[in-house]
Amino acid sequence: MALDLNQQARDILNRNDRGGYTVPTARLYPYQWNWDSAFVALGFATFNRDRAWQELELLLQGQWDNGMIPHIIFRRDDPDYFPGPSVWQTSGGAFPSGGISQPPVFASVMLELIESGGAEDLGQAQAMFDQVLKWHRWFHHDRTPNGCPVVCTVHPWETGRDNCPDWELGLDRMDVDEGIEPYTRMDTVHADVSERPSKLQYDKYVTIIKFGRDVGWDQKRLTNEGPFLMADPGIHFILMRADRDLLAIAKMLGRSDAFDELQGFISKSETGTDYLWNPDMNAFCARDVRSGTFSQGFSSASALPFYADAGTPAQRQGTLDNIKRIAAKVDYLIPSWDPDAADFEPQRYWCGPVWPQMNNIISKGLAEQGETDFAEQVRQDLARLIEKSGFFECFNTMTGDGCIGTDFSWTAALWLAWASPNQEN
Ligand code: SER
Repeated sequence: MALDLNQQARDILNRNDRGGYTVPTARLYPYQWNWDSAFVALGFATFNRDRAWQELELLLQGQWDNGMIPHIIFRRDDPDYFPGPSVWQTSGGAFPSGGISQPPVFASVMLELIESGGAEDLGQAQAMFDQVLKWHRWFHHDRTPNGCPVVCTVHPWETGRDNCPDWELGLDRMDVDEGIEPYTRMDTVHADVSERPSKLQYDKYVTIIKFGRDVGWDQKRLTNEGPFLMADPGIHFILMRADRDLLAIAKMLGRSDAFDELQGFISKSETGTDYLWNPDMNAFCARDVRSGTFSQGFSSASALPFYADAGTPAQRQGTLDNIKRIAAKVDYLIPSWDPDAADFEPQRYWCGPVWPQMNNIISKGLAEQGETDFAEQVRQDLARLIEKSGFFECFNTMTGDGCIGTDFSWTAALWLAWASPNQEN
């Protein structure tokens, strides 16, 4: 069975290959997505290391002159997706793209490939090092609002956790811009409406895009003056981990010129971590920057301090207590949203379902910090979900049914690289 699934997973990656880069799934997401591609590289590495590095290389081709690596690269226009290049109207890099970024797991994936590989892998990382450093610099400079101690986000899509109830705080503060053009959503053509974000959420997503266009995608203005500004434990911990991993790579490469800068980024994040601590939840939570208000629920991003080697012993204990509370309520860890919250919906995108890439990094962090039982449960739960339902985008945390995209690339990749009990592939 595991062997069969291994073959199915390889077939999915090969089928979703569009010539050096991989779409997350056919039709629903017909372009190259940023963090999807990084996870996909881990999957390709189990049977074709050159193809793994090529995936990363093609993602870097989308980098903007200011250092940002966008969340989507539009190599060609595809009517199956909204909002496409004609809506974003960006010109920051070699290709049309989204005007925002996504959680920077790239450096951590590079380190994983180096650790499982050899001299050739280190050579590949050397060729990419400066571009990745420039991207991290962009986060620390252009996405850190004036006077704020942590990197923030200007659009729910930038967090990768699109319609998580975390973002309602920031969305509630903004109005829909009456100047947005009428549009037709394509996601609800390809997926069930009960599993996708609402119309009002989409209107606000498009309103933020309009603001970005109106300021010519000046990223500092988008951060400081844009309609939405929240701090995200997901981006915070993922970037902190990626800075540590990039520093480890710098040391392997003898890039002493980058040591101080990367250490400075890490120290800034260590100092800023308390900003995300919500004493009411005893957890790290998303926070609206302008009002200072915390989101009142434990999301899957709240489970990431271990991955970043962050937080005090008491904060880590609070995090574990929350995971225990949630484990008693759901059949599969880790739900994307808190099952005790009123707006929990186990089948709707980021309002409850289990996401493969979140389980991967949460489990990795738990294992590294000695929480091996939970780490293993999180890995096995994803394996059970895939064995039960197949390679879906995400899964209902109560029933285990697959949700939204089918034959999904990062699910296949993480099965091969991590969740499959048969790692011989
Ligand atoms: N995930 C988003 C979408 O659903 C964009 O990154 O279109």
